[in-house]
Amino acid sequence: MRTSSEILAVAAASLAVLVAVRVATAAPADPPSPTAAAVLNEMRQTVSLKPASAFGGIADPKARSVALFREMGKVITHPRCANCHPAEHPAQGNDRHLHMPLVSRGPDGHGEGLPCASCHTGGNVWVGGTRIVTIPGHPNWGLAPASMAWQGKTLAEICAQLKDPARNGGRTLAQIQDHMAHDDLVGWGWNPGAGRTPAPGTQAQLGELTQAWIDTGAVCPAPGGTRVPTHDPAAKTAAVRLTPVG
Ligand code: HEC
Ligand code: HEC
Repeated sequence: MRTSSEILAVAAASLAVLVAVRVATAAPADPPSPTAAAVLNEMRQTVSLKPASAFGGIADPKARSVALFREMGKVITHPRCANCHPAEHPAQGNDRHLHMPLVSRGPDGHGEGLPCASCHTGGNVWVGGTRIVTIPGHPNWGLAPASMAWQGKTLAEICAQLKDPARNGGRTLAQIQDHMAHDDLVGWGWNPGAGRTPAPGTQAQLGELTQAWIDTGAVCPAPGGTRVPTHDPAAKTAAVRLTPVG
């Protein structure tokens, strides 16, 4: 037979367990880390790319051209593109953190010391980790030259350098359009491997927007505005921002 003090002790213990369970379930969830919040925010924003035809209502060709370029900017400034168009060090993920391990362009964009190809192969490779689901890959995987860096720049600055043969790889506007519409490495942006948000719209839509922009005079936005977020210390601007653009 149990004594009343034993019964009391059991009752007190059960009460303590009950309270502990209540406290555990009632406790608010951990707030998302700034990085996770930025990723979620960006994913929510990565929704749509308007077709070129959506801009037909803008009567003034110059204004239409600028609006078309701003729409192209949704792709250009997207992490799938801008992560590989840095001043010097590539970025990873939707939060655009610096590439781990830190890697640099090297003489030809394919890496300094440790070539990109030691990890990036001819295609996306499934690794199935909890953080890294796939290692991105493409036969031409390498950094865009410094003159084509987009991180830390405004859309107006990117537009100007994109049109400048001295900085765009000696391309005419028609060749820029062809690169946007058909280049296979650009196309990776819509086939980035599991665990990565694709660039908005489709590559064909980007090609049509670029053509319509050229047809309306390839006008650039006025100077100023948001810079493409970057953590690259080599970027001209030290703007370390996690706010998505676009
Ligand atoms: C030591 C291995 C390794 C080397 C060397 C390496 N990478 Fe990576 N890289 C990775 C891994 C792994 C990922 C995927 C990380 C993730 O998804 O979080 C990645 C992701 C990236 C991404 C991000 C893709 C995206 O849209 O988020 C870019 C850009 C990139 N690498 C460029 C390069 C370039 C350019 C080089 C050579 C200059 C290079 N990497 C060298 C392992 C490497
Ligand atoms: C893995 C790295 C990588 C990714 C990802 C990438 N690029 Fe590039 N990009 C390059 C390289 C390398 C060049 C230089 C190619 C050349 O000149 O032949 C380049 C050049 C360009 C050019 C030529 C003109 C200029 O001034 O920049 C355009 C346009 C371009 N990329 C658009 C894009 C778009 C749009 C995306 C995303 C949908 C993208 N790139 C994603 C590496 C990348």
